[in-house]
Amino acid sequence: MSSLTVTAPAKINLCLGVGARRPDGFHPLATVYQAIGLYDRVTVSPADDLSLEVRADDRLCVAGVPTDGANIAVRAALLLARHHGVERGAHIVLDKGIPVAGGMAGGSADAAATLLACDAVWGLATPRAELAGLAAELGSDVPFALVGGTAIGSGRGEVVTPLMTRGTYWWVVLESAQGLSTPRVYAEFDAMHAGAEVGDPEIPDALIAALLGHDVSDLGAVLSNDLQAAALRLRPELADVLAVGIAHSAHGAVLSGSGPSCLFLCANRSHAQRVAGGLGAEGLGPVSFAPGPVRGAHATASEG
Ligand code: C5P
Repeated sequence: MSSLTVTAPAKINLCLGVGARRPDGFHPLATVYQAIGLYDRVTVSPADDLSLEVRADDRLCVAGVPTDGANIAVRAALLLARHHGVERGAHIVLDKGIPVAGGMAGGSADAAATLLACDAVWGLATPRAELAGLAAELGSDVPFALVGGTAIGSGRGEVVTPLMTRGTYWWVVLESAQGLSTPRVYAEFDAMHAGAEVGDPEIPDALIAALLGHDVSDLGAVLSNDLQAAALRLRPELADVLAVGIAHSAHGAVLSGSGPSCLFLCANRSHAQRVAGGLGAEGLGPVSFAPGPVRGAHATASEG
């Protein structure tokens, strides 16, 4: 095979329960992930050395995305080669469609897609369970990007259990011009809870019931995010933005992961178009909309 393109989705958290900081610096999570139809595409071609190129249309700002060994896609390729004790090169092209530093796991999607693409292009045939282990080493959200759909996340987010749900939802995503750093939001969470007892995180039963019943208004009422208050301390203006989406008939509004992207739950595509139009009319944007759940990282094109 000469080159392979793998497409990987953005993730959102329908609930994000966060516990007290662990000794390793991470926080225990109880979350329900959903993969939604905003995508990064990763094309891997065999090459002598390892190199990376980042592309995006004008809508997305990719200036902050590193193109050296600090990029998680490069780290994914190196980790896979090291796991097999081989030295391999590749030219990796990231076509970004997921907001950068938006709380939607765009870097994790790139890492998952790179693992799959390099594995195929290099002919390594790594068993899926081993790939999931490598994914977990790369980042808390990377295993979910391999799986997609809707799933429970536990541990620090890397333990993923698929969840049976019915039907499709539509999400309006409002991006922010400036990203938020995930460690910074977690640090703010710690500061807010300093000296207080933080209970073990749990997934609300009502969320599981709403998903099983495919009840969009029940789901909207139970969306939750323990990082939201911390992110809003760093970006207070986002509280009003969430309220504007509700005023424009969204069934629910919540910050995506550590933010700053805002999510608005809609019943179907035309409802999402209406809510997106309402936000745009209030001068908010850029907005996009996407269905969920969608499948995890998968090959979309190959050559040779
Ligand atoms: O695992 P990942 O590299 O995505 O995590 C980025 C940062 O987010 C971590 O260094 C940590 O500061 C924070 N984090 C956390 N608890 C988690 C996941 C991430 O504190 N469960």
